[in-house]
Amino acid sequence: MSDKPKHQLFATRLGVIAATVGSAVGLGNIWRFPYEAGVHGGGAFLVIYVFFIVLLGIPVLCAEFALGRSTHCNVLGCFRHLKPGQPFWKIIGVIGVTSGMMILSFYSVIAGWTLEYFVVSLKGEVAGNSTEELHSLFGDFTAGLRPVMWTVVFLLINYCVIVRGVRKGVEKASNLLTPALMILLAVFCVNSLTMPGAADGLSFLFKPDFSQITPGVVIGAMGQAFFSLSLGLGCMLTYASYFPDRTPLVRSAAVTVGLDVLTAVMAGVLIFPVVFTYGFSPQEGPTLVFEVLPAIFAQVSGGWFWAPLFFFMLFLASLTSTISMSEIGIAWLTQDRGMSRGKACVLVIAVAMVCGVACALSFGYWSGLSLPVIGEFNIFNFFDYTSSNVLLPLGGMLISIFAGWMLDRNILRRELTTPRTALSSLAPAIVFLLRYVSPVMILVIFIANL
Ligand code: PHE
Repeated sequence: MSDKPKHQLFATRLGVIAATVGSAVGLGNIWRFPYEAGVHGGGAFLVIYVFFIVLLGIPVLCAEFALGRSTHCNVLGCFRHLKPGQPFWKIIGVIGVTSGMMILSFYSVIAGWTLEYFVVSLKGEVAGNSTEELHSLFGDFTAGLRPVMWTVVFLLINYCVIVRGVRKGVEKASNLLTPALMILLAVFCVNSLTMPGAADGLSFLFKPDFSQITPGVVIGAMGQAFFSLSLGLGCMLTYASYFPDRTPLVRSAAVTVGLDVLTAVMAGVLIFPVVFTYGFSPQEGPTLVFEVLPAIFAQVSGGWFWAPLFFFMLFLASLTSTISMSEIGIAWLTQDRGMSRGKACVLVIAVAMVCGVACALSFGYWSGLSLPVIGEFNIFNFFDYTSSNVLLPLGGMLISIFAGWMLDRNILRRELTTPRTALSSLAPAIVFLLRYVSPVMILVIFIANL
């Protein structure tokens, strides 16, 4: 079987699923998916996104699982271990650690917003407000310094969890949380479906208008597929290095993908009816969900109760995702650089704090600041776009080339089929996608976009 792990593994099968689903399900589904779908034409975006999830997401997720579990190494060590004389492949690890840090930085800003809204709604400042009042509430908030404070607070909370180690921190945090969040989402979807704008919202989300498809939509949907599944940066690879040998990889991948897509679609069903009922613009961008959600809670009965509950769950869902991003760098620093876990955690959080503060200021004091290299992007958008739409697909392409062409076929087959489950029979199809479909598709999209 695989090499002997030098570190703690996840204890139970539920722990494995809870950790991977906890990583995948988060702000990417509830905040990023609706805003990206809104900007990129709704239904057309959804269709392309699902297409990428199937043709790129599932195979690359299986590849990351197989690479991580077979070596029990971090994202740099894994490739050194498998191809000792070929330093080129370490590039996957470098992309992984870099994009992991970039995502941790801007993601913590949005997670910080959930904390602000948790507090504000607990104080009763959300329920009963008009849409205009909510709009200015949000505008005043992002223009000030509180987002910076919440970014720092969120990263400190993240620190307290990761410093305790993988099993104690991650497994426990994820076990209850994701199912609870999904139930709450389902409840609110039902509420959205009763609104006057429900028909318009649903047709925006589910009726694809293919004339809307542009290279930007395709790149955006591909980036969203990678981001949402935590793929292309070795995050799932790092988690899989903690999987015991008895974890069925294809089945775990299927559960993760299924729940991840379901959550994103539910978030769309929750958000777009409200957008059309209250006359928001679907093209609002990253701030969309934070303007729309309070509008829901302001009018439902018992909003004073639901609003803080919802924002608290969203905060917890973000936390299970940031824990997994942090782990990429921590696993590398502790396993390859000989750092203690404590020091590695401090370093990762410190770097994220510096970059995170810069991202937090992008909505207020530094909103006018655009980086010269990339035209109209502010710092936040630069971090978001470069990591999700460039680095993750690039990493995903290299991972599929490595798994499909460089890795010993027997290792890949064995990992995907041990232990045997009904889904093991998909292994040949996954290998085929990894060799011939995913790398070519990503390359073509990159070239077409240039
Ligand atoms: N998949 C997470 C989400 O949807 C975000 C994430 C990206 C987590 C990359 C880890 C690595 O919220």
